[in-house]
Amino acid sequence: MKVAADADRLRREGVDVVDFGAGEPDFPTPDNIKQAAIRAIEGNFTKYTPAGGTQELKQAICERHAADYGTSYSPSECIISVGGKHIIFNYMQVLIDSGDEVVIPVPYWVTYKDVVNYAGGKCVFVETDEAKGFALTADMIESHLNERTRMVIINSPSNPSGAVVERSEFEKIFQLTSKRGIWLMTDECYCRFLYDSSPFSIASLPDAKETVLVAGSLSKTYSMTGWRIGFGLAPAPVINAINKLQSHSTSNPTSIAQKAGVEAVRGPQGSVDVMLAEYKKRRDFVINRLRQIPGVTTAEPRGAFYAYPNISEALERKGIASPMEFAERLLAEAHVAVVPGEAFGTDKHIRISYATSMQELERGLDRIHKFITG
Ligand SMILES: Cc1ncc(COP(=O)(O)O)c(C=O)c1O
Repeated sequence: MKVAADADRLRREGVDVVDFGAGEPDFPTPDNIKQAAIRAIEGNFTKYTPAGGTQELKQAICERHAADYGTSYSPSECIISVGGKHIIFNYMQVLIDSGDEVVIPVPYWVTYKDVVNYAGGKCVFVETDEAKGFALTADMIESHLNERTRMVIINSPSNPSGAVVERSEFEKIFQLTSKRGIWLMTDECYCRFLYDSSPFSIASLPDAKETVLVAGSLSKTYSMTGWRIGFGLAPAPVINAINKLQSHSTSNPTSIAQKAGVEAVRGPQGSVDVMLAEYKKRRDFVINRLRQIPGVTTAEPRGAFYAYPNISEALERKGIASPMEFAERLLAEAHVAVVPGEAFGTDKHIRISYATSMQELERGLDRIHKFITG
């Protein structure tokens, strides 16, 4: 947020900033989705809906999830929220109490830590193996489980690293958590953006529905970040508790956006493949360019649209104390916005979002190369 604010200020001053900070697709929302929203407005679908979303959208989400991943949720196990962030916040509010431990692999999406803390929980961080692309294994998780562990959070593919948890490891993690009655929250925000593996949801395993909590979002999959539609798939009592919370806090997600959401999940899915193919091209370009910069190493992202290069050698060479200082100086001196690794729990990295055009990627990477070697 700080980098975004600084970049904004520079832009207002007329500086030509290349922005690798934004975590959102640069594609417009597909036209069929926009048209559905226009029809909703013209048809006066502009009033309250049930607090947990319309039956129509819940049904459509359950069907989409079943078609993509082979799950079997019904609308009573589904809730529509104001974006994926909202459902994650709500899971913590209804399930995490003071002193409960929540296991979070590092690097992590910044919000997990804050929503766990806000609920009174304690974050327990698990290091992953950077040399193997930030690989997470069940063994790494197991050594952090104890009688206070209430939840494990998995985000695959990961923001910020693009790491994907191997299916066999994910299944082992599920075995560990389910037999102890620990919630396994799977953040599937980027689940449709995988470069070398097929879409998979841990919720498709037999018995998974008892302890798995799916946090889903239409934001990235359909380039709908501003529409604010996310969803949860979970046991009905959890859904009911969240429904109460939503009914006294946000009420329903916007009625018009819900109609757009129905079209997104029921309509043609071709736009997702188009975006994925473009991200893959950009991923290859970015990784290749980063690897040419002396003092920078980078794991290959296997999904999502972020690279997470290790800049520790470059920091040393330039006498820069931290990724935060690096990001500040890169923005001030080379006019490129990136997010420092401290936001994601590491002190040797920056995050580069490649959800931007090839032309911008070229310009920005030229500037980063010059900044580091200059
Ligand atoms: C890992 C992860 N989960 C969830 C979200 C939530 O997205 P939204 O609230 O826009 O649906 C994001 C957004 O950046 C994300 O990166």
